[in-house]
Formats: sequence, C-alpha cells, structure tokens
Amino acid sequence: MKNKLVINGDLGSTTISRHIYGHFSEHLGRCIYEGIWVGEDSPIPNTDGIRNDVLEALKKMGIPVLRWPGGCFADEYHWKDGVGPREKRKKMINTHWGGVIENNHFGTHEFMKLCELLECEPYICGNLGSGTVQEIQEWIEYITFDGTSPMANWRKENGREEPWRLKYFGVGNENWGCGGNMRAEYYADEYRRYQTYVRNYGENRIYKIACGPNVADYHWTEVLMREASRMMDGLSLHYYTVPGTWQSKGSATDFDEQDWFTTMKKTMFMEELVTKHSTIMDKYDPDKRVGLIVDEWGTWYDVEPGTNPGFLYQQNTLRDALVAGINLNIFNNHADRVHMANIAQTINVLQAVILTEGEKMLRTPTYHVFEMYKVHQDATLLPMDLESAQYSNGDSSIPQVTASASKNSDGVIHISLCNVHHESPAAIDIELRGAVPNKVSGRILTSDNMQDHNTFQEPDKVQPSTFNDFKLEQKGLSVNLPPKSVVVLAIE
Ligand code: AHR
Repeated sequence: MKNKLVINGDLGSTTISRHIYGHFSEHLGRCIYEGIWVGEDSPIPNTDGIRNDVLEALKKMGIPVLRWPGGCFADEYHWKDGVGPREKRKKMINTHWGGVIENNHFGTHEFMKLCELLECEPYICGNLGSGTVQEIQEWIEYITFDGTSPMANWRKENGREEPWRLKYFGVGNENWGCGGNMRAEYYADEYRRYQTYVRNYGENRIYKIACGPNVADYHWTEVLMREASRMMDGLSLHYYTVPGTWQSKGSATDFDEQDWFTTMKKTMFMEELVTKHSTIMDKYDPDKRVGLIVDEWGTWYDVEPGTNPGFLYQQNTLRDALVAGINLNIFNNHADRVHMANIAQTINVLQAVILTEGEKMLRTPTYHVFEMYKVHQDATLLPMDLESAQYSNGDSSIPQVTASASKNSDGVIHISLCNVHHESPAAIDIELRGAVPNKVSGRILTSDNMQDHNTFQEPDKVQPSTFNDFKLEQKGLSVNLPPKSVVVLAIE
C-alpha cells in the first residue's frame, strides 16, 4: 500500500508549545556532575562552573525548559543544603542512584544560572515525599520574593540580589512510587495541602504541576482530576520505552530486527496513553486548561557493560532517533492537551542528547532529532490525515510511517516524517490543501545500520544531511523515505 498524507495548510488553531521539546536532568550518575557542572577550577572550559561545550550544544538544539533536580532524587532533596558557600554545604547519600555522596555543589543558584545561560525556563520539582510544606514554601520565597523577608535576605547574602522568575513547579515526583508510595486518594489530599503554599509573589506566576499517573494508571488520573484539577495547571505522565522487561531491558547497541520492532511498537503505545489520559482529563476539564505534562519519557536499556548500574548510562543509536521522532510527532499532534514534555535525561543518563567523557563531548542521534524538529516550536499545528502502510512482524503490526505538521509565523510549513521500518522504504504522497508549495527543502537522519551510533572516536557517524528524494506534484509532493529514517521537510 502507498502511504498518503493530507495536510490542511490553511487550518489549525493549536500552538505547539515549545515546551514539548523540554529536557530533564537529575542528580543521577554523570548527568549533573561532569555532564553539566565541572566547577569553576576545572581545566574543562566553563562559565561559572558550567561546561561551555554543553551550553553551546544545548542552545543550538533550542532547549526551551529544563526540569530539575529529579526524579526520585527530588523527593529526598532538601534545597537548603544546596545554597551558601560550597565548601560548607552538607553532604548527603544519593540513595536512589548508586549510593554515592552528593556534595550539593550544584544547587539552586547553579541551576538558575544554568537556565539563564541556556535562556530556557527552569522547572523545579519540589519534595513532597520526605520534605515539609514549610520547605517548599520557603524555597519559592527564596527564589521569587522581591523585598525583605527571611528567605529573600538569605538569597541576597548568598550573592543574588534580584529574585529569579520561576514559572514551573512540580509538587512531588512519582509519589505513587519512589516519592512516598502513596495511593491516588492520599496524594490528591497531600497535593491540595502542599500546593496551597506554593505562592505567587509580586509579578511571578507559578504553573503548578501535580504528580500524574504511572503509565496506564487511569485511576490515578481520574482521582487527581476529580479531587484537585481546579488547584493545578498541569498533571504529569511518565512512560519509558523498555524493549525487554524491567529485569532485563536489553542492550542499547546490541539488538536485532525483533528488538527494533518491539521498541517501535512500545514507543507507539504513547499515543494510546496520551489519548486515554486526555479523555479522562476532558471529563473534568473540557476546555483543556490543565496540561498533560509528559515530564519523563525515553528509552531505558541495560547500562553499558562495566558502568555503575545506579548511573543509568547508555549509548544512543539510530533506534533512539526514531523513538524521539515518533514521540515528538505524538506530542505535536496532541498539543491541545500536551503542554510540555521532558525527555529523560539530558546528559549521560538514559536517552541522553549529549554524552561526555572527561573533556570530550558528543551529540547523540537523539540530539539531532531535537535539533531538526525545533522548527515546530511555537508553530501552529496543522490538521492532517495519514494513511500508513503496516509494518508487520509475526502476528503484530504497527503503522510504518508517523508524521506531524506545523506552520510557523513566516508561513513556512514543516512536516516531520518517520519511516520506522528497519528495511523497507516508504513512498508517500503528500497532498497539501490550502497551500501552494514554491520551494521545498529537506533534512534527513539515517544511517546504514540500525545499531549505528556516535562514539568519542567517531562523534559524527550519525548526523543529519540534506534530503532531496521528493518531487513537486500538482497537488503537493511525492516523497521517498528510506528505511529507518527521520525526515523534516520545509515548504515555502
Ligand atoms: O529517570 C530516572 C528515574 O525514572 C526518575 O528518577 C524517576 O522519576 C523515574 O522512575
């Protein structure tokens, strides 16, 4: 069957929030320490302790928002331990992630500095699981209060006169699991209590995000929306693509066609999750005021052989690029409800966009997908109809092609397409209604082998190139997508 895509170039009213292209970085393994923070005295070139190569790469990729400090770490993080002179900061055990000693050298000031340098929105996750209401209240006061108060004065003593602007605040993380093993009913009440003290000081307005469901826990969404939706702006959702089981997840680089197919199929489950959770949210919030915030997503494999199992360090192949492309297409197409998403985790952890080794740094295939797709940020989602051929494996089949399309403020239409088949090309006819294409250009990310990835010896093995296997037709375009490829077309 030929694939067919009809795009309505003159319709559409939903904006694809740039925050769908968000990231997540936790105090876990080498994400914060080494990946971001090297300290002011490091031989690695840095700005106030934050490595310059990483800053430059993340800015070029268009990072719009960064979630911190966890993750599970957030619910045992006590922010007061992470401010003041670094040499005096209290050390703690990072019990979730390898039992290593956390010296708290990267704290609130360092994180807010990082976001300033990246020109991105900070998204802080507060500690509901093991912290107090007072801690959360005082953290907000410390960060955002402009005037004389115990916390604002302390911030000034610690070197920051002006308050920061903070928009996004999460009230706990995975409180159904590592954040306190709570039932939905119990957490809903706790959420209502804690969020009361997340105050708006001066002009600062906080967008409050409640802990949402674990994967397909629809009961959690029902209870939270019923009991607390009027007190929240966003509800989170966590779902990871794990090709195997939680006990044996599979290797990041050593996999076959069957593993490839399973990974694509499990990634596409995100469509069902977003649709079903949104349907429940619609019941309580038909105007879609409350955002579904997919603040942890991505692949999760076995760690690289010989590395600390608690550090979650994994390589990143062309397969991960497809996972990113599929998920981002899903989020774009649900932009009316999905107001933010944060891939886990920015550097050296899970589906990272950047890997480092001492002073060396590389961009993963996933990085390139984010960079290619950034054209969708803040553009208008275009309604479309996609008829895709099936990609079959034994008794199972999934769509071979996924897509999303948007129009930016200059009137340029961008279409992102994934051919998820490991060996078959996909010919696709694209009919453009309400738009006349004059000039078309394209970029592609693909490689000879499914397992191809970037290494410190060969950091640019997988990188985007120009794509021109398309023809302008009377009604639109005919395009040939190579197997296992991500393509972005720009139509002027
Ligand atoms: O991203 C790794 C962990 O996965 C996070 O800390 C937690 O929230 C999730 O279970």
